[in-house]
Amino acid sequence: MKIPPVKGTRDFYPPQMAIRNWIIDGWKQVSVRNGFEEYDGPIFELLQMYQIKSGDEIVEQLFSLQDRGGRDLAIRPEITPTLARMVNQQINALPRPIKWFSVPRLCRAERPQKGRLREFFQWNVDIIGVDRSTADAEVILTTLDYLRMVGLTNRDVQAKISSRKLLAAVLRGVGIPEEKLNSLYAVLDKKAKLPAETFEAMLAEQVPDSNQARVIQDFMVARSVEDVESLVDFDDDIQNAIMNLKIVFHTLDLMGVSDYCVFDPGIVRGLAYYTGVVFEVHDVVGELRAICGGGRYDNLLRDFGGPRIPATGMGMGDAVLEILLAEKGLLERQVPKPQLEYYVTCADAIFTKDIFTITAKIRETGHSAAFNYGLWLEPSGTCEAPSLSKQLKDAAKQNASKCVIIGQEYADKRELVIKDMTKDQPSQAQVGVDQFLSDLT
Ligand code: HAM
Repeated sequence: MKIPPVKGTRDFYPPQMAIRNWIIDGWKQVSVRNGFEEYDGPIFELLQMYQIKSGDEIVEQLFSLQDRGGRDLAIRPEITPTLARMVNQQINALPRPIKWFSVPRLCRAERPQKGRLREFFQWNVDIIGVDRSTADAEVILTTLDYLRMVGLTNRDVQAKISSRKLLAAVLRGVGIPEEKLNSLYAVLDKKAKLPAETFEAMLAEQVPDSNQARVIQDFMVARSVEDVESLVDFDDDIQNAIMNLKIVFHTLDLMGVSDYCVFDPGIVRGLAYYTGVVFEVHDVVGELRAICGGGRYDNLLRDFGGPRIPATGMGMGDAVLEILLAEKGLLERQVPKPQLEYYVTCADAIFTKDIFTITAKIRETGHSAAFNYGLWLEPSGTCEAPSLSKQLKDAAKQNASKCVIIGQEYADKRELVIKDMTKDQPSQAQVGVDQFLSDLT
């Protein structure tokens, strides 16, 4: 019986692995050039860690287990709680600001669908210890720096930016009690994902007063920060939240990415811990779920038993990103094809032993090299080799850049024939074996 893979998981055969590696290498490269250092944590944590502050949706999606001592554990559905725990643990020893990135493998027991899996990779960048909006802008800039590097333009993706603080101030302003805010965020976050009537029914359940509900709805479709100013009465909280947003947009403008950014108060974020500027990047067509999401979470470290240290960051999954890059033809063009540098062949079976010694020496210099497995060599010297043309065909199949041919020249003058396979008309040159090997180092 053939055992199938688990629903919502992926097998990475070499072509898929090449894509995964290319995506992750890009994430790491952009993290480093934006000044982030890499960290990681364990793949499972105590279950209670996610019950503190991630929100009901994430808790419902946990893969949980019990260890032999009866402790309740969960496979990480996100790395932000681990980050908060790790920072709290060494709070006095860590130089601040902390600018860290990570690429964890995460698991969420979601219903698998396009771009939504039960196991995926997620790039995280976080800045801890900076309350200024500059840090929020830096996180958004780093995100866009990557998306721009892989060839996505502002016609493909858009960063939608809003503020939980502003939303909270508006909700308080219309009279929503503090204790209802978190459950209301979860409903508002679903606005773009649900049919209008379903959303309105859910909102009416939480906010039965139709006047209150109307102001909330109007706020969520406001086109600009200025529109919001005309919608609600100004208080210090609103003024402060609007100023933070203006600084973020201004900084992003100076950094040259404002053409990717829009204000969108419909962005609420599903996770419970956000407290300030929030953002998501979406495909412009709006076909896919968010490519990434993040924002400011100034209370999470305190909620995890540490001091109140401000923090902001984002997470980008590989699944939606890969779908979008494939749709735009950007994978085909950029993911490197498997490439072999040297394929070592012989024109006569008597050179079989030289194939092994020369291949090993090429590999020792750090270059890749292969040979045909039809070769046969017994300690007595009895040997066999496929024809040279068969070996060369195999080299082409393996996409080798160069073929090394060991033939009569080697017996006469210790010279190899090097055939360049990268050109339409392969060219050949002869070179002494010692010279060839020393040129490789
Ligand atoms: P999140 O919105 O839950 O945020 O996830 C961020 C991104 O991870 C999503 O936009 C999506 O690309 C990807 N993602 C989430 N769930 C799945 C899934 N089931 N399958 C495939 N991809 C998925 C967080 O996780 C926050 N911890 C991000 C953060 C870091 N905020 C501050 N720092």
